[in-house]
Amino acid sequence: QEKPLVILPNLTSCHESMGRSDLPVYCCPPMNQSNVAFIDFQFPDPSLPLRVRRPTHLLDDDYISKYKKALTIMKSLPDTDPRSYTRQANLHCLYCTGAYNQQGSNAPLNIHRSWLFFPWHRMLVYFHERILGSLIGDDTFALPFWPWDIPEGMVIPEMYMKAPFFHEARDFSHFPPSVVDLDYSCTTPSSEDYRCFESGLGPGDQVHTNLAMMYNQMVAGAKKMELFMGCPYKAGEGGSCDGPGTIELAPHNTVHKWVGSNLNPGSREDMGVFYSAARDPIFYPHHANIDRLWEVWRTLHGNKVITDPGWLDSSFFFYDEKLQLNRIKIRDVLSITKLQYAYEKVDFTWLHNRP
Ligand code: C2O
Repeated sequence: QEKPLVILPNLTSCHESMGRSDLPVYCCPPMNQSNVAFIDFQFPDPSLPLRVRRPTHLLDDDYISKYKKALTIMKSLPDTDPRSYTRQANLHCLYCTGAYNQQGSNAPLNIHRSWLFFPWHRMLVYFHERILGSLIGDDTFALPFWPWDIPEGMVIPEMYMKAPFFHEARDFSHFPPSVVDLDYSCTTPSSEDYRCFESGLGPGDQVHTNLAMMYNQMVAGAKKMELFMGCPYKAGEGGSCDGPGTIELAPHNTVHKWVGSNLNPGSREDMGVFYSAARDPIFYPHHANIDRLWEVWRTLHGNKVITDPGWLDSSFFFYDEKLQLNRIKIRDVLSITKLQYAYEKVDFTWLHNRP
């Protein structure tokens, strides 16, 4: 009987990769035995408290000071510690620039622009959150989400404008009270007349345009599984599937570019390009919102599920708060209830914004 082909990174294959077409980067963890010894992921004990992720505009000072403490500790850990902020950010670099080859073939592994996008980022954010909680001894700690899809969330959240959440490499012309442009785009970085397009809309019109776009990306343009999830990336294929789902393309990519710095034209580091995006603390509430929208999409479209065993059993590696390397399968992250977290409900005003 033939085993389904699953995606699995070959940890010992970690190598230099291209952060940009003109920039080689090396994001690999130090190589030793403890980097390849792993355990299989176990669901958290159901008696533990549920972690409730709240929207950035509704956080109270108590919560913000806890998160601040946790992030400050994380940023102070040395790079030899896989829980450190740098190592967490490098995970994104590793899996997003093809630094690992796949087991069983030598094809490079990339988790963007395909159906690996939602589950892989869910894992990254999940372990990041557990580590932050453990650094302050709080197993109820949950990351916030940045709800740029609703009017209350369409500016950079105030708390991300202050240390330790602030990040230098951002476009200062997009600081509050500038309203996010969910359709922000730039010409290809290599083009001669490289430029990004500012919508030029006033705040009210920008909010309205954003809501109409959300309706399209979540409802009208995302009725079929593949349109939302992205193309089926199969083991051994390398880069041959290149089809991001609606939300991955925008607002996911567009918000990355919109936040990233205009002083780095073309790539807009740090948020604007994969190898550096997770260095900006705003990456995490941005991805918590993407993760939440995956849940919302499922409820809007009759809970459609992917049943392909190649997808379900594809696995990735993440360190947990106990410094254990976990091998975790996509099928393990399909229920956020089993992962013991939830999203506070917010009104999706865009649902009523059919353009
Ligand atoms: Cu892996 Cu928001 O990109």
